[in-house]
Amino acid sequence: MGKSLVIAIDGPAAAGKGTIAARLAEHFHLPYLDTGLLYRAIGRIMADRGFDLDDAEFAAQIAMALDPEDLNDPRLRGHEAGELASRVAVHPPVRAALVEMQRTFAARDPGAVLDGRDIGTVICPDAKVKIFVTASPEVRARRRTDELNAKGREVAYETILGEIRERDARDSGRTTAPLKPAADAVILDTSALDREGAFEAAVGIVQAGLA
Ligand code: CDP
Repeated sequence: MGKSLVIAIDGPAAAGKGTIAARLAEHFHLPYLDTGLLYRAIGRIMADRGFDLDDAEFAAQIAMALDPEDLNDPRLRGHEAGELASRVAVHPPVRAALVEMQRTFAARDPGAVLDGRDIGTVICPDAKVKIFVTASPEVRARRRTDELNAKGREVAYETILGEIRERDARDSGRTTAPLKPAADAVILDTSALDREGAFEAAVGIVQAGLA
């Protein structure tokens, strides 16, 4: 415990939390766990095998058998995997199956940076620093649309905005570990910030938390 620094980063889709979390980890020399990848892998495996995403028990079995190798699938970074993730992430037994490995990761000696939806509220309630990264749905939809277009995928802004609103509603409305800031989280709204600005603001929050 003592000197170990756990930084919990939560927030909605496309708010910039992944970039901020990865850069904070580098800056503070801490290991980084993108917990969304776990849910993405489970959703992807279920879909690939043709299983029903609403089957909580089955999804939990996949979660318990998750292999680190499963996280290397390049398709997991994509937009579709995010949607699949959000479908399996509503199931309490799936979430329960992933708690221990996330906590073990966070308990490492120097500390760790974890990003997700419930890190500050459920996984690491004692984290020294908690940041809730958010931005307006319109800004997030614009960023995600530009990102997909840059990868050569033709998608309409309106479609993405609709999906973001739907995902926000699903993530915030579920009964287990809904997306919400921890009472002691610092809210970082990146709507008016570029990547650099958002990173600098996050470093400032960590430093204030350590002081
Ligand atoms: O950046 P983006 O939100 O698109 O992706 P992500 O962080 O990988 O999360 C994808 C989905 O996984 C979210 O919409 C959540 O439903 C779920 N998730 C979760 O429930 N809990 C976590 N700790 C991380 C992700």
